[in-house]
Amino acid sequence: MAEPTVYLNGLYLPESEACVPILDRGFIFGDGVYEVLPVYAGEPFRLAPHLERLERSLRLTAMDNPHGRAGWERVIREVIHRNGGGDQSVYLQITRGVARRDHAFPAETPPTALVMSSPLIPPAAEELARGSTVITRPDPRWLHCDIKTTSLLPNVLLRQEAQEAGADEVILIRDGVVTEAATANLFLVREGRLLTPQQGPHLLPGITRDLVLEIAAAEGIPAGEAALDRRDLATTEEIWLTSSTREIRPVTRVDGRPVGNGEAGPLWQRLHAAYQACKDRIRAGEAG
Ligand code: PDD
Repeated sequence: MAEPTVYLNGLYLPESEACVPILDRGFIFGDGVYEVLPVYAGEPFRLAPHLERLERSLRLTAMDNPHGRAGWERVIREVIHRNGGGDQSVYLQITRGVARRDHAFPAETPPTALVMSSPLIPPAAEELARGSTVITRPDPRWLHCDIKTTSLLPNVLLRQEAQEAGADEVILIRDGVVTEAATANLFLVREGRLLTPQQGPHLLPGITRDLVLEIAAAEGIPAGEAALDRRDLATTEEIWLTSSTREIRPVTRVDGRPVGNGEAGPLWQRLHAAYQACKDRIRAGEAG
């Protein structure tokens, strides 16, 4: 495979030539924000909401945005093009730039901007149908989980813990309430109704989460936000995880116990099919 091309601070470079100084605050402090967006047949999926969330993360961390929306779109499309189009996962990161180490913001330091891409490979049908295995853990994160920051140490430790426990993901519990997973949002099905934790500082406003709610509304499936108790996980009919790279994943085991009958559920089948139809429309050049 040819070496990927990345965008770094105005230049398109082979990945191995793209370097950031050691004093970059992303490296020193994790002082940065990011986005991950899927690309289908060369077309970025849900670009506007991703750029809107990026602007929000920058605003809430008082960081400068090096590009407007049109500028970002040009850069993202160029990175997609230079990496051969098709299906990709585009990663975009902005840090507060390079400065002598001092916790307080540096004056007049330009941000560091990076866009890179990797192939987006869909899971095999059997893997999807088998579903994900999750464990639950107390949510150890801070009170601004709605900011998509590169400071991801708790998420990194949680995913590692899941892996060592033979699980795919970790569902997080704060004060007895379910928030989200370490790298995804969460949905439950209760009496045929689709429920997701309320948006707020304890979880990321997921783009896929919004899309699932949008699809449910279009399909006439009752859906909404609710405070979900950890005990709901044991009695729910279905559990799903949602993210830009993993789409909608059924969860079939929580802490070793089966969810429902231990198989991907009927409502998941419906939403998954509708999500694939959205992707097909993007591939066909229709708006998504
Ligand atoms: N993660 N919650 C967390 C903590 C996440 O890290 C993610 C996505 C989501 C889902 O958001 P969206 O639907 O907008 O992708 C929720 C990305 C994919 C990542 O860090 O790689």
